[in-house]
Amino acid sequence: MTEREKRRIRVFDTTLRDGEQAPGCSMNLPEKIEVAKRLEKLGVDIIEAGFPISSPGDLESVRAIAGIVKNCAVAGLCRCLEKDIDAGKEALAKAASPRIHVFLATSPVHMEYKLKMTPEQVLEHAVASVKYAKKFCNDVEFSAEDAFRSDPDFVCKVFGEVIKAGALTVNFPDTVGYAMPAEFGERIRYIKEHTPGMEKAALSVHCHNDLGLAVANSISAIANGADQVECTINGIGERAGNASLEELVMALKVRHDLFSAETGIDSTQIYSASRLVTQVTGVKVQPNKAIVGDNAFAHEAGIHQHGVLAKRETYEIMTPESVGITPNRMVLGKHSGRHAFEERLKDMGLSVDAETLDKIFAEFKNLADKKKVVSDRDIEALVMDKAVSVPETWKLDHWAVNTGSALGASGVIRLQHKDGRHEKLVCLGDGPIDSIFKAINQIIGKEPELELYEIGAITGGSSSQGETMVKIAMDGRRWNGRGVSTDVIESSIKAYLAAVNAMEWDLTDRE
Ligand code: KIV
Ligand code: ZN
Repeated sequence: MTEREKRRIRVFDTTLRDGEQAPGCSMNLPEKIEVAKRLEKLGVDIIEAGFPISSPGDLESVRAIAGIVKNCAVAGLCRCLEKDIDAGKEALAKAASPRIHVFLATSPVHMEYKLKMTPEQVLEHAVASVKYAKKFCNDVEFSAEDAFRSDPDFVCKVFGEVIKAGALTVNFPDTVGYAMPAEFGERIRYIKEHTPGMEKAALSVHCHNDLGLAVANSISAIANGADQVECTINGIGERAGNASLEELVMALKVRHDLFSAETGIDSTQIYSASRLVTQVTGVKVQPNKAIVGDNAFAHEAGIHQHGVLAKRETYEIMTPESVGITPNRMVLGKHSGRHAFEERLKDMGLSVDAETLDKIFAEFKNLADKKKVVSDRDIEALVMDKAVSVPETWKLDHWAVNTGSALGASGVIRLQHKDGRHEKLVCLGDGPIDSIFKAINQIIGKEPELELYEIGAITGGSSSQGETMVKIAMDGRRWNGRGVSTDVIESSIKAYLAAVNAMEWDLTDRE
């Protein structure tokens, strides 16, 4: 097959919907907007921005993303219910290319126990919903939830009828990650060949990773005729996650000889998109994660290092540069100028407006005074702090702790409220963090539960900055915060305050 005959596979990214639904992966509005902008830059074809009926916050974020993203379609997920589709229509009103994505389960176990519907009722609802969605939106996708465990001929029938009703994409999910690659590929071929009118719609797949096969199954589906793949950055998603975008895209790229299929993804944007999702969710990828893990391009064994030095291709099937990992060419420190700093941001795939750049550059200079060498991870943390934070209800003014081995700790903190007043409090605790977090809770007058407190070093070495991630919860809702500082107690306070500010913004300022 010549280059010109390559099939174009659509990439449907659901990091902001299926990904965000995963435990511990929630994002606030500025974070979601930043991720959406990065996905647009990455070149995905469709961004599934959320599930508008599920909460006012989700509707608002789909609406905000729809108003900003221009170069790809924005989808909103809806059950096959008019009220869901109405919420989808409202959220997508400003989208340049809106897509309504309706879903209904077709497997015996889902129809009987969850939906309590007969197959005939499911078919009727699916068709009625696609017809209803079509009144507002030309681009309608229908998903047969749990399609892989459904009767293939029933799925073909439902797909045929929804295509007749106007669906432009029909999606075949392996909702519970049960399929094996060869049988999944065969099933996709069967669906493609036996669905009436299939030539009028795109066939999509959506694979979950319960057996670690989501990418393999999606690739097998592409080899057997699938036109669209649904995936997430870093593979985040329900339970064991979804197919990972970076693995799918690079598999097609590296093995283009086998698939003759390509995507519209600019692979050099992959690493920065992965880092952004890690930063905003606080969910790290494992070091040996394909494509974006810390060790993905590290060669430890002497024999491998020797081989790579002699000829890269001995042990590398793709270059780190092809996924946007740039080697640190220049060391940045206190003598580095604004131009060098800006260039490094560009190399890292990070873009900020001029005002934010001024602020970040000033902070970079402060940091460079404390640390000899400022690493890419340090810079990334500075950018992240500015780019995705919510308005601050509480600002850190001063803090001090007194701690020792026998007597516990005392902490004093002074915060400034956005209305200008200062609040200061001293508290005792089991340790320095406990005492300070207690003092903050007393000042804000709320007691969220601390669900996660994680502290690490941004880079190796004792001069590294400390990076803290906290997750707090109250009344069934969750907020994340991250903080970075050369002092680990300060990074903890910053992280806790970031989460508190996200909570205040959600609970007070926006309601
Ligand atoms: O896994 C699944 O079946 C889904 C559908 C809503 C597409 O996420
Ligand atoms: Zn899913």
